[in-house]
This record gives sequence, C-alpha cells and structure tokens, in this order.
Amino acid sequence: MHMRAVVEHRVSAQDAYVLGRTQREYERLTRQAQIWEPATRQALLQAGLSQGHSVLDVGCGPCDVMRLMAEYVGPAGRVFGMDVDAVLASHAIEQLSQSGPDVYSLIAGDITDVTQVSQAPFDLVFARLLLFHIDDPAAVLRRLWEWVRPGGALLIMDYDITVTRSAAQIPVIERTLRLCNDTFRRCGRDIEIGTRIPSLFLEAGIGTPDACNVSSVMLPAAPSTHMLRDLLDSLRPQILRHRLADERALTRLEFDLRAAAGCDSFMRWPDLTATWKRKPEADAVN
Ligand SMILES: C[S@@+](CC[C@H](N)C(=O)[O-])C[C@H]1O[C@@H](n2cnc3c(N)ncnc32)[C@H](O)[C@@H]1O
Repeated sequence: MHMRAVVEHRVSAQDAYVLGRTQREYERLTRQAQIWEPATRQALLQAGLSQGHSVLDVGCGPCDVMRLMAEYVGPAGRVFGMDVDAVLASHAIEQLSQSGPDVYSLIAGDITDVTQVSQAPFDLVFARLLLFHIDDPAAVLRRLWEWVRPGGALLIMDYDITVTRSAAQIPVIERTLRLCNDTFRRCGRDIEIGTRIPSLFLEAGIGTPDACNVSSVMLPAAPSTHMLRDLLDSLRPQILRHRLADERALTRLEFDLRAAAGCDSFMRWPDLTATWKRKPEADAVN
C-alpha cells in the first residue's frame, strides 16, 4: 500500500470562490461530472494517459476525474489531486481509496501560491473548470506546464457558457442563464475562458496546442432546470451581494424553474473545450 502524502499549503483563495462550498454545490459538481464523463475520457485518452503514468489534477474538487484517471494509469500509476478545498478533496480521496486501488494522493493548496511540488514532473497535468476561477490564468498555465515532464502533456478543459440556451426559448431558463452569466461577470469571472484557452497557451509561452476539441450536450428540461436551480443556490450570496436580484425574485425564479422541469424542451449546455499539448522530449536538456 502507498502512503498518502498530504502536503499543506496556504488556502487564501477559499473565501473568494464564487460557487461557495455547500454540500448541495458538491453534489452538483458530481452530477455535472457525470454529464462530461464521455468527453473527459476521450480527452484523457487523446492526451496519451496510460498504464503506470503519474498524473496531477489541479482543482480536483470531488475527485470525479481522478477516479477515471486511476482506471487508465492502473495500480502501477499515481493520481495526485490538488485543491484549495482540502476538506472536500481529502474526504473524496478517502472514499475513492476505500473502493479502488490505493493510487491517490492529495496536495492541498492554492495553485496561485504553490510554486513547487515535490511530486513533479508528471506525465499529465490536468485541470477542468479551474481556470474559470483564476484571475491570472496565463500565470497558472505557465506553472502547470513547468510541472509536465518532457514527453508528457498538459490538458485543460474549461467552459464557454455564453452559448448556453434553451432550444425552445423557455423564458425562465433564459432569465436564469442571464442572471448566472451576469453574476459570474460581476464577480470578475471570464465566462468565455474555454474559447480563450488556446490563446492563453500562446500567452503563457507554451506554444500552439496540439488539439482543441469542443464538446457540448443537449439535455431535457428536467435535468437542465435541476442543474440551474442548484447553480442559483450556489450563486445566491453573490447575486444578493451584487443586487442582481432580491430574495423574492430568487424564490420566484426557483418556483418557475421547478414548473419548467416538465416542459417538452431541451437546453444546450455550455461548450466544454479540451485543449492539450505534449512537451517536446528535447526539453529534457533545458
Ligand atoms: C468548478 S470546481 C471543478 C471541480 C473538478 N475539477 C471538476 O471538473 O469536476 C473548481 C474547483 O477548483 C478549486 N479551486 C478554485 N480555485 C483554486 C485555486 N486557486 N487553487 C486550487 N484549487 C482551486 C475549487 O475549490 C473547486 O474544487
């Protein structure tokens, strides 16, 4: 059995996190992860993840991607997760280790503060839905790239949520999407970050990505409005703080979303882009 090393770093970003840290939000993340599992598996395979690899998932949250990674790296591999929310990630890793191979370790910390990790370099450095929450994503990309071993890869998956809409223009879905987008913007989040990742690779000095694939899904009203109700709940403190809606309006919106769950319609979800690049072997001499 491997010993799980828990390295503690400062956790300064925790309080500013726009989605909050409630049980309901954690469950929303795991339901969302199920939706993106096929696209994520495809991206991991395309980036070359395989048996025996050592991999780092930055902003691992409830560790749903780490579970997939463990399948590909097998018992001889290592799967490290890093998150500023050490409580969530350590609990998730504990659960994963009980039900599968003991290949997991947590590096608790804020990626904007952690400049070195003793476990680097990795065969794959990965981050999904992390850069959306980062003020200087190019600086973080530069750091993640440093932690990729020559011949290894950096794979970034993130959202462009500007494309989300209901297929039949359901007013309450449209209203909710506008409110969520406005809230993210007011909190300084870049809601098109997924589309900007390839340019950010260039800005970070990583170079032109080897590939950038865009995935989306259309889902029926019931799961879509469920996700929107949970998202509204997570964003509620920020919506109120920025006076984008009051308690009464939020209660009404939640009620109308429940009613719309039975609609015979679909929602187009955000674009999830998967951008990756392999580090040249020649970098070994640098
Ligand atoms: C939207 S969740 C995504 C979780 C997971 N990657 C997924 O795709 O399901 C973003 C995660 O990034 C973490 N996070 C945000 N800012 C961070 C930072 N500066 N350093 C490390 N983790 C951070 C949050 O705590 C949260 O768990």
